[in-house]
Amino acid sequence: MDMQVLRSAATSFRTGLLVLGVYSEGTQPSATQEVDQASKGKLTSLVERGDLAEQAGSTLLLMDVPGISAERVLLVSLGKRGELDERVFQKALRKAARALRDTVASSAAVALADVDLPEHSIAWRVQQAALLLSDGLYRFEAPRTSGSVVPRGAKDVTLLVSEAVTEHIERALARGVAVAAGMALTKDLGNLPGNVCNPSYLADTALALGKELKFDVEVLERSDMERLGMASALSVGRASAQPCKFIVMKYHGGSKAKPVVLVGKGVTFDTGGVSLKPGADMDEMKYDMCGAAAVFGAMKTAASLALPIDLIGIVPAVENMPGGDAMRPGDVVKSMSGLTIEILDTDAEGRLILCDALTYAERFKPACVVDVATLTGACVIALGNVTSGLFANDDGLADELFDCGQDTGDRAWRLPLYGDYLDQLKSNFADTSNLGGSAAGAVTAACFLGRFTKSYKWAHLDIAGTSALSGPEKGATGRPVPLLSEFLLRRADANGPAYAS
Ligand code: BES
Ligand code: MN
Ligand code: ZN
Repeated sequence: MDMQVLRSAATSFRTGLLVLGVYSEGTQPSATQEVDQASKGKLTSLVERGDLAEQAGSTLLLMDVPGISAERVLLVSLGKRGELDERVFQKALRKAARALRDTVASSAAVALADVDLPEHSIAWRVQQAALLLSDGLYRFEAPRTSGSVVPRGAKDVTLLVSEAVTEHIERALARGVAVAAGMALTKDLGNLPGNVCNPSYLADTALALGKELKFDVEVLERSDMERLGMASALSVGRASAQPCKFIVMKYHGGSKAKPVVLVGKGVTFDTGGVSLKPGADMDEMKYDMCGAAAVFGAMKTAASLALPIDLIGIVPAVENMPGGDAMRPGDVVKSMSGLTIEILDTDAEGRLILCDALTYAERFKPACVVDVATLTGACVIALGNVTSGLFANDDGLADELFDCGQDTGDRAWRLPLYGDYLDQLKSNFADTSNLGGSAAGAVTAACFLGRFTKSYKWAHLDIAGTSALSGPEKGATGRPVPLLSEFLLRRADANGPAYAS
């Protein structure tokens, strides 16, 4: 799909599908007014008759609107003008994207970036529109042997704006498209089944990505991990027929600032191990590598925009299986940091691979480290699928990530890392246990990780609830790629200089 931003009259623009926003009350957006006038009040009369529901996000498709060049018009309700906010804007864009994805028209023009959101710049609105429209066109290529193969969906999408298109606006468009491309990779990896997307598949994906976007990728094998002392990470993958891989991606954007390090949990399938999970919905544990997938996605976004930052992506990739050689509850292992861990629950495996990755991250002398992990069911209980859990040992870093979540709608909320919680991790047989009990499970998991991140600024995103949806909408969401990308974009802007986009 190609996307561009253009200043043009909505009435004369030749396109298969023109998308217009309509307020249920108040002055209409300028493109909507123009089309209304050209069609001698057709839109006004439809709206007055109630054909377009007032509820924000409702849509109405019109054919053969007189006086304009577009073949079809999709009206999207924006609710009352005075009540328009980011959420309504985003909802309208998602609805528009759905129509773009399913239309037989090969081209579309969307005039939604001009809506009345004065607290947000046109650049923000264009970036959001580009992101949500591109992301909304995502489709997972499931290996089906039957069903319609008629290709649908707009291939050419134009964002119509009523002001001069500056370089700044062009860049916003490129950014939105690049974030959506990162999300698409993240979703694809998440949606692939565990028998395809195993640790080796993740390693191969990293190598291919590095080749395409010209960054270095190193894949450490089990013997390398043994040499480094990663007994904790290796214990998780031990019973799997699939070899463990420790993936390191290094992107140099030519900045003098210290690197940002992203660490992603890459458990390609989590059975729970000997502490076996119950059977219901266990298929969803193929999503236990969504942290890793988000790191891939953010690397893709950053590298494709040639951001002037240094970025390291670390992915410990394993499969957590039961078996004759599996780790058992009560086993004690020595992590790379030297800290010994009593494994009280083999299903608390994410922290066992992340701790060694976080120790490995020290060698990069990072500006900060952000780990991303589908870490705890407790986080899903606390925050559902709306908000990611955010933890940090540095208030500045926490605020930065929080703001990026608010700004993109990919929100995260901070939870505490108080030392008091460490009592729950006490062990009679090692420095720490890997299990904090049922109270505050998301917090004790984060506190466990905090034991390995003393030497740098660190944040942890628990995306167990937000990275994939269950039920009829089952699928990876691509989160938190928007949040992470925004974080990297802001760091890049702070580093200057202007870059190619
Ligand atoms: N991968 C799971 C967490 C998870 C649960 C992700 C639900 C997505 C949806 C993780 O490895 C896990 O099993 N955590 C345990 C920890 C417990 C044993 C301390 C959990 O949350 O039950
Ligand atoms: Mn688990
Ligand atoms: Zn897990």
